[in-house]
Amino acid sequence: MEFKDKVVVITGGSGGIGSATAEIFAENGAKLVLIGTSSEKTEKKAKELGLKEGEYLALGADVSKEADVKAYVDATVDKFGRIDVFFNNAGVSGDIANTADISSENMEKIYGVNIMGVHFGLKHVLKVMLKQKSGSIINTSSLAGLRGFPGLGAYVASKHAVVGLTRTAALEVAGEGVRVNAICPAPVETRMMDTIEKDMGEGARENFEAGVPMKRYGKREEIARLVYFLASDKASFITGGIYTIDGGQSAKA
Ligand SMILES: NC(=O)c1ccc[n+]([C@@H]2O[C@H](COP(=O)([O-])OP(=O)(O)OC[C@H]3O[C@@H](n4cnc5c(N)ncnc54)[C@H](O)[C@@H]3O)[C@@H](O)[C@H]2O)c1
Repeated sequence: MEFKDKVVVITGGSGGIGSATAEIFAENGAKLVLIGTSSEKTEKKAKELGLKEGEYLALGADVSKEADVKAYVDATVDKFGRIDVFFNNAGVSGDIANTADISSENMEKIYGVNIMGVHFGLKHVLKVMLKQKSGSIINTSSLAGLRGFPGLGAYVASKHAVVGLTRTAALEVAGEGVRVNAICPAPVETRMMDTIEKDMGEGARENFEAGVPMKRYGKREEIARLVYFLASDKASFITGGIYTIDGGQSAKA
Protein backbone atom coordinates (compact mmCIF):
# COMPACT_ATOMS: atom_id res chain seq x y z
CA MET A 1 0.00 0.00 0.00
CA GLU A 2 2.62 2.47 -1.20
CA PHE A 3 0.05 5.29 -1.52
CA LYS A 4 -1.99 4.58 1.61
CA ASP A 5 -4.02 7.73 2.38
CA LYS A 6 -2.11 9.81 -0.18
CA VAL A 7 -4.38 12.14 -2.14
CA VAL A 8 -4.22 11.72 -5.91
CA VAL A 9 -6.05 14.13 -8.25
CA ILE A 10 -6.59 12.97 -11.84
CA THR A 11 -8.08 15.12 -14.60
CA GLY A 12 -9.57 13.17 -17.47
CA GLY A 13 -10.24 10.67 -14.68
CA SER A 14 -13.11 8.98 -16.50
CA GLY A 15 -11.15 8.68 -19.77
CA GLY A 16 -8.91 5.87 -20.99
CA ILE A 17 -5.47 6.75 -19.58
CA GLY A 18 -6.88 8.61 -16.56
CA SER A 19 -9.10 5.75 -15.39
CA ALA A 20 -6.37 3.11 -15.85
CA THR A 21 -4.12 5.31 -13.71
CA ALA A 22 -6.87 5.76 -11.10
CA GLU A 23 -7.12 1.98 -10.89
CA ILE A 24 -3.43 1.49 -10.02
CA PHE A 25 -3.49 4.21 -7.36
CA ALA A 26 -6.72 2.79 -5.89
CA GLU A 27 -5.13 -0.66 -5.65
CA ASN A 28 -2.29 0.95 -3.71
CA GLY A 29 -4.41 2.66 -1.09
CA ALA A 30 -4.74 6.21 -2.44
CA LYS A 31 -7.66 8.54 -1.94
CA LEU A 32 -8.77 9.59 -5.39
CA VAL A 33 -10.20 12.76 -6.85
CA LEU A 34 -11.52 12.14 -10.35
CA ILE A 35 -12.18 15.15 -12.56
CA GLY A 36 -14.06 14.83 -15.85
CA THR A 37 -16.40 16.86 -17.99
CA SER A 38 -19.34 15.66 -15.85
CA SER A 39 -19.68 14.39 -12.29
CA GLU A 40 -22.04 11.64 -13.54
CA LYS A 41 -19.19 10.17 -15.61
CA THR A 42 -16.60 10.39 -12.83
CA GLU A 43 -19.07 9.02 -10.25
CA LYS A 44 -19.80 6.06 -12.55
CA LYS A 45 -16.06 5.45 -12.95
CA ALA A 46 -15.50 5.61 -9.18
CA LYS A 47 -18.22 2.96 -8.70
CA GLU A 48 -16.65 0.76 -11.41
CA LEU A 49 -13.30 1.02 -9.63
CA GLY A 50 -14.98 -0.09 -6.39
CA LEU A 51 -14.04 3.11 -4.52
CA LYS A 52 -15.79 3.43 -1.18
CA GLU A 53 -17.72 6.41 0.16
CA GLY A 54 -15.34 8.81 1.91
CA GLU A 55 -12.31 7.58 -0.05
CA TYR A 56 -12.92 9.55 -3.21
CA LEU A 57 -14.38 12.65 -4.79
CA ALA A 58 -15.98 12.53 -8.24
CA LEU A 59 -16.27 15.97 -9.78
CA GLY A 60 -17.23 17.65 -13.03
CA ALA A 61 -15.19 20.58 -14.34
CA ASP A 62 -14.28 22.27 -17.58
CA VAL A 63 -10.51 22.51 -17.13
CA SER A 64 -10.28 25.31 -19.70
CA LYS A 65 -12.09 27.57 -17.18
CA GLU A 66 -9.96 28.83 -14.31
CA ALA A 67 -12.91 29.08 -11.90
CA ASP A 68 -13.69 25.36 -12.45
CA VAL A 69 -10.03 24.43 -11.82
CA LYS A 70 -9.87 26.50 -8.64
CA ALA A 71 -13.15 24.86 -7.55
CA TYR A 72 -11.85 21.29 -7.94
CA VAL A 73 -8.62 22.17 -6.10
CA ASP A 74 -10.57 23.85 -3.27
CA ALA A 75 -13.02 20.91 -3.05
CA THR A 76 -10.08 18.49 -2.76
CA VAL A 77 -8.39 20.48 -0.01
CA ASP A 78 -11.73 20.90 1.84
CA LYS A 79 -12.33 17.15 1.79
CA PHE A 80 -8.83 15.67 2.16
CA GLY A 81 -6.65 18.57 3.34
CA ARG A 82 -3.83 18.09 0.83
CA ILE A 83 -2.77 16.97 -2.68
CA ASP A 84 0.13 14.52 -2.95
CA VAL A 85 -0.10 13.63 -6.62
CA PHE A 86 -1.59 15.54 -9.52
CA PHE A 87 -2.04 13.77 -12.86
CA ASN A 88 -2.75 16.77 -15.11
CA ASN A 89 -4.07 14.68 -17.95
CA ALA A 90 -7.35 15.92 -19.50
CA GLY A 91 -6.99 16.62 -23.20
CA VAL A 92 -8.77 16.78 -26.54
CA SER A 93 -7.48 16.05 -30.03
CA GLY A 94 -9.93 18.37 -31.84
CA ASP A 95 -10.89 18.03 -35.49
CA ILE A 96 -8.29 16.98 -38.05
CA ALA A 97 -7.33 20.02 -40.18
CA ASN A 98 -4.22 21.18 -41.97
CA THR A 99 -2.51 24.32 -40.73
CA ALA A 100 -3.79 26.42 -43.66
CA ASP A 101 -7.39 25.29 -43.09
CA ILE A 102 -7.96 25.07 -39.35
CA SER A 103 -10.88 27.03 -37.87
CA SER A 104 -10.34 29.40 -34.98
CA GLU A 105 -13.05 27.50 -33.00
CA ASN A 106 -11.05 24.27 -33.33
CA MET A 107 -7.84 26.03 -32.28
CA GLU A 108 -9.51 27.70 -29.30
CA LYS A 109 -11.02 24.42 -28.10
CA ILE A 110 -7.71 22.56 -28.29
CA TYR A 111 -5.60 25.34 -26.79
CA GLY A 112 -8.25 25.95 -24.11
CA VAL A 113 -8.24 22.40 -22.78
CA ASN A 114 -4.69 21.28 -23.54
CA ILE A 115 -2.76 24.46 -22.69
CA MET A 116 -4.96 26.65 -20.46
CA GLY A 117 -6.34 23.57 -18.67
CA VAL A 118 -2.86 22.24 -17.91
CA HIS A 119 -1.57 25.69 -16.94
CA PHE A 120 -4.54 26.44 -14.63
CA GLY A 121 -4.07 23.01 -13.04
CA LEU A 122 -0.39 23.70 -12.41
CA LYS A 123 -1.11 27.16 -11.06
CA HIS A 124 -3.69 26.10 -8.48
CA VAL A 125 -2.25 22.73 -7.46
CA LEU A 126 1.27 24.17 -7.07
CA LYS A 127 -0.04 26.69 -4.53
CA VAL A 128 -1.20 23.74 -2.38
CA MET A 129 1.94 21.65 -2.87
CA LEU A 130 4.27 24.59 -2.18
CA LYS A 131 2.54 25.10 1.19
CA GLN A 132 2.99 21.40 1.95
CA LYS A 133 6.57 21.45 0.65
CA SER A 134 5.85 18.16 -1.13
CA GLY A 135 4.09 16.73 -4.14
CA SER A 136 4.50 15.16 -7.54
CA ILE A 137 2.88 16.41 -10.74
CA ILE A 138 2.72 14.49 -13.99
CA ASN A 139 1.49 16.37 -17.07
CA THR A 140 0.28 14.46 -20.12
CA SER A 141 2.02 15.64 -23.27
CA SER A 142 2.36 13.27 -26.23
CA LEU A 143 4.81 12.19 -28.90
CA ALA A 144 3.03 15.09 -30.63
CA GLY A 145 4.75 17.28 -28.01
CA LEU A 146 8.11 16.41 -29.55
CA ARG A 147 7.48 16.20 -33.30
CA GLY A 148 5.02 17.17 -36.01
CA PHE A 149 1.97 15.23 -37.23
CA PRO A 150 0.18 16.47 -40.37
CA GLY A 151 -3.45 17.44 -39.76
CA LEU A 152 -2.91 17.83 -36.02
CA GLY A 153 -1.17 21.22 -35.88
CA ALA A 154 -3.06 22.71 -32.93
CA TYR A 155 -2.82 19.45 -30.97
CA VAL A 156 0.92 19.26 -31.72
CA ALA A 157 1.43 22.89 -30.68
CA SER A 158 -0.57 22.36 -27.49
CA LYS A 159 1.44 19.30 -26.50
CA HIS A 160 4.72 21.14 -27.18
CA ALA A 161 3.39 23.80 -24.80
CA VAL A 162 2.89 21.14 -22.12
CA VAL A 163 6.58 20.23 -22.42
CA GLY A 164 7.54 23.90 -21.95
CA LEU A 165 5.22 24.36 -18.97
CA THR A 166 6.58 21.19 -17.38
CA ARG A 167 10.21 22.24 -17.67
CA THR A 168 9.50 25.76 -16.42
CA ALA A 169 7.38 24.73 -13.43
CA ALA A 170 9.92 22.03 -12.51
CA LEU A 171 12.72 24.62 -12.38
CA GLU A 172 10.59 27.05 -10.36
CA VAL A 173 9.80 24.53 -7.60
CA ALA A 174 12.80 22.17 -7.64
CA GLY A 175 14.04 23.46 -4.27
CA GLU A 176 10.60 23.24 -2.64
CA GLY A 177 10.02 19.49 -2.43
CA VAL A 178 7.75 19.44 -5.50
CA ARG A 179 8.54 17.48 -8.66
CA VAL A 180 7.02 18.11 -12.11
CA ASN A 181 7.40 15.73 -15.05
CA ALA A 182 5.64 15.01 -18.34
CA ILE A 183 4.85 11.85 -20.26
CA CYS A 184 4.83 11.60 -24.05
CA PRO A 185 2.88 8.55 -25.23
CA ALA A 186 2.62 7.34 -28.83
CA PRO A 187 -0.92 6.18 -29.81
CA VAL A 188 -2.72 4.42 -26.97
CA GLU A 189 -5.92 2.34 -27.13
CA THR A 190 -8.47 4.92 -25.99
CA ARG A 191 -11.52 6.80 -27.27
CA MET A 192 -9.23 9.62 -28.42
CA MET A 193 -7.48 7.39 -30.97
CA ASP A 194 -10.86 5.94 -32.08
CA THR A 195 -11.97 9.48 -32.90
CA ILE A 196 -8.72 10.41 -34.70
CA GLU A 197 -8.84 7.19 -36.76
CA LYS A 198 -12.46 7.82 -37.75
CA ASP A 199 -11.66 11.40 -38.81
CA MET A 200 -8.57 10.38 -40.79
CA GLY A 201 -10.40 7.57 -42.58
CA GLU A 202 -9.51 4.13 -43.82
CA GLY A 203 -5.98 2.91 -43.16
CA ALA A 204 -5.32 5.41 -40.37
CA ARG A 205 -4.81 2.80 -37.68
CA GLU A 206 -2.49 0.73 -39.90
CA ASN A 207 -0.45 3.87 -40.63
CA PHE A 208 -0.15 4.75 -36.96
CA GLU A 209 0.84 1.19 -36.05
CA ALA A 210 3.38 1.05 -38.87
CA GLY A 211 5.06 4.14 -37.38
CA VAL A 212 5.68 2.39 -34.07
CA PRO A 213 8.73 0.06 -34.09
CA MET A 214 6.83 -2.34 -31.79
CA LYS A 215 4.01 -2.28 -34.39
CA ARG A 216 1.18 -1.73 -31.96
CA TYR A 217 -0.63 0.88 -29.88
CA GLY A 218 0.23 1.29 -26.21
CA LYS A 219 -2.15 -0.12 -23.64
CA ARG A 220 -3.63 2.31 -21.15
CA GLU A 221 -2.25 0.32 -18.20
CA GLU A 222 1.27 0.60 -19.67
CA ILE A 223 0.95 4.40 -19.49
CA ALA A 224 -0.56 4.19 -16.01
CA ARG A 225 2.48 2.29 -14.70
CA LEU A 226 4.84 5.08 -15.85
CA VAL A 227 2.66 7.72 -14.19
CA TYR A 228 2.59 5.64 -11.00
CA PHE A 229 6.38 5.35 -10.97
CA LEU A 230 6.91 9.09 -11.55
CA ALA A 231 4.46 9.86 -8.74
CA SER A 232 6.20 7.56 -6.28
CA ASP A 233 9.17 8.20 -4.01
CA LYS A 234 11.15 5.79 -6.21
CA ALA A 235 11.37 8.74 -8.63
CA SER A 236 12.64 11.13 -5.92
CA PHE A 237 15.51 12.56 -8.05
CA ILE A 238 13.38 12.96 -11.18
CA THR A 239 12.01 16.39 -12.06
CA GLY A 240 11.71 18.36 -15.29
CA GLY A 241 11.82 15.06 -17.15
CA ILE A 242 10.01 14.42 -20.42
CA TYR A 243 9.31 10.70 -20.67
CA THR A 244 8.54 9.08 -23.99
CA ILE A 245 6.51 5.88 -23.80
CA ASP A 246 6.12 4.95 -27.40
CA GLY A 247 7.24 1.48 -28.45
CA GLY A 248 10.45 3.02 -29.82
CA GLN A 249 8.88 5.63 -32.09
CA SER A 250 10.96 8.59 -30.90
CA ALA A 251 14.19 6.61 -31.42
CA LYS A 252 13.63 6.74 -35.18
CA ALA A 253 15.01 9.50 -37.37
N1 LIG B 1 -4.76 8.07 -26.67
C1 LIG B 1 -3.60 8.44 -27.17
O1 LIG B 1 -3.15 7.88 -28.17
C2 LIG B 1 -2.78 9.53 -26.55
C3 LIG B 1 -1.43 9.66 -26.92
C4 LIG B 1 -0.67 10.69 -26.34
C5 LIG B 1 -1.26 11.54 -25.43
N2 LIG B 1 -2.56 11.39 -25.09
C6 LIG B 1 -3.14 12.30 -24.11
O2 LIG B 1 -3.61 11.55 -23.00
C7 LIG B 1 -4.59 12.31 -22.30
C8 LIG B 1 -5.77 11.39 -21.98
O3 LIG B 1 -6.42 11.03 -23.18
P1 LIG B 1 -7.04 9.58 -23.44
O4 LIG B 1 -6.26 8.97 -24.51
O5 LIG B 1 -7.25 8.88 -22.16
O6 LIG B 1 -8.44 10.01 -24.13
P2 LIG B 1 -9.92 10.01 -23.57
O7 LIG B 1 -10.70 10.74 -24.60
O8 LIG B 1 -10.33 8.64 -23.18
O9 LIG B 1 -9.81 10.90 -22.25
C9 LIG B 1 -9.73 12.30 -22.27
C10 LIG B 1 -10.32 12.80 -20.97
O10 LIG B 1 -10.22 14.23 -20.90
C11 LIG B 1 -11.44 14.73 -20.41
N3 LIG B 1 -11.68 16.09 -20.87
C12 LIG B 1 -11.73 16.54 -22.15
N4 LIG B 1 -12.02 17.85 -22.18
C13 LIG B 1 -12.16 18.24 -20.89
C14 LIG B 1 -12.47 19.47 -20.27
N5 LIG B 1 -12.69 20.60 -20.98
N6 LIG B 1 -12.54 19.52 -18.92
C15 LIG B 1 -12.33 18.40 -18.18
N7 LIG B 1 -12.02 17.20 -18.71
C16 LIG B 1 -11.95 17.14 -20.06
C17 LIG B 1 -12.51 13.78 -20.94
O11 LIG B 1 -13.69 13.85 -20.16
C18 LIG B 1 -11.78 12.44 -20.79
O12 LIG B 1 -11.98 11.93 -19.49
C19 LIG B 1 -4.92 13.50 -23.18
O13 LIG B 1 -4.23 14.65 -22.70
C20 LIG B 1 -4.35 13.09 -24.53
O14 LIG B 1 -4.02 14.20 -25.33
C21 LIG B 1 -3.34 10.39 -25.62
